[in-house]
Amino acid sequence: MLLSPPRPLTFFGGKGGVGKTTLAAATALAAARTGQRTLLVSTDPAHSLGDVFGRHLDGQVQEVEANLFVVEVDAEAAASTHVDDVEARMSRSIDADLLPAVRRHLALARTAPGTLEAALFDVMARFMEDCPERFDRVVFDTAPTGHTLRLLAIPALLSAWVEGLARQREKVAGLDRMSQNMLGQEQPDDDPVMAALHDRRARFERAAIRLRDDAAFWLVLIPERLPVEETVRAEAALHDQGLHVGGLLVNRRLPDSADGTFLQARREQQRDYEQEIAQRFPARRVATIEQRPRDIAGLDDLRELASTLPPDLVAPAEE
Ligand SMILES: Nc1ncnc2c1ncn2[C@@H]1O[C@H](COP(=O)(O)OP(=O)(O)OP(=O)(O)O)[C@@H](O)[C@H]1O
Ligand SMILES: [Mg+2]
Repeated sequence: MLLSPPRPLTFFGGKGGVGKTTLAAATALAAARTGQRTLLVSTDPAHSLGDVFGRHLDGQVQEVEANLFVVEVDAEAAASTHVDDVEARMSRSIDADLLPAVRRHLALARTAPGTLEAALFDVMARFMEDCPERFDRVVFDTAPTGHTLRLLAIPALLSAWVEGLARQREKVAGLDRMSQNMLGQEQPDDDPVMAALHDRRARFERAAIRLRDDAAFWLVLIPERLPVEETVRAEAALHDQGLHVGGLLVNRRLPDSADGTFLQARREQQRDYEQEIAQRFPARRVATIEQRPRDIAGLDDLRELASTLPPDLVAPAEE
């Protein structure tokens, strides 16, 4: 039974090392094999998708097999392209004697807090816009929880920032126009820098709407105390932001066949936490994924793991 209709944008979040990348890759593979054109995007600066698929990924979208496309986002390159672009537009549209000051400002912007995150969010927003035209499904493998939640706050922050900047620019543009009028010069009627900033803001706002309407967040955890506590906080934070939680994936459950007194003690502890999870997330879809004897690497391992994923995670979104 499907608990909630599948959505075309799927996010995986959770504490470090719980299995986000592995489960995102298995989900993307499973979706691709149902015929959905699927893009798997890694937004974690410490990428590991290349390792999971056993191939070198270079920041470009690569087709791994039929219907399955994979990309590791290079946020630093994206940030630097963005600042270069702003600088090029500025150089074309402002007085030459203002350029050194603008260049100094942009040099600071390159390393300012938030620049990388905004660039990363911009790339994510563009991939969201590729769905449904180029891809039926986009799966995001994110960095550990705190980072992802900060990233999701960016559209609102950037909107405020762009608006402030827009007001400044418009003041300056107003003065420019006035002086150009007085000098009888011709005036360009559009400002290329503002146009780029407004484009970016509009894209971020569209992305924020898509995140609310078309995205499901799956929280990955292992049955241990700290991941359970972090999942409680993450769920509340997502809820506060009006985002949809698809369900919980409790990974690395020791199978009943794991023998020996040591493993049996671990297993009993895990079972206690599984009960606690059921009590603390009564309204949530909770699916369990077993611990495999070895790390997951390559398409065969992923396919095997994928066969145990909940159907509402893999099924195509309804039109
Ligand atoms: N069900 C499983 N059975 C066996 N090994 C697993 C399972 N799930 C994950 N692993 C292994 O655990 C390790 C960590 O998994 P993964 O990289 O997917 O975690 P992550 O949450 O993405 O980590 P990070 O927070 O560093 O991005 C990997 O070596 C992976 O192969
Ligand atoms: Mg990872």
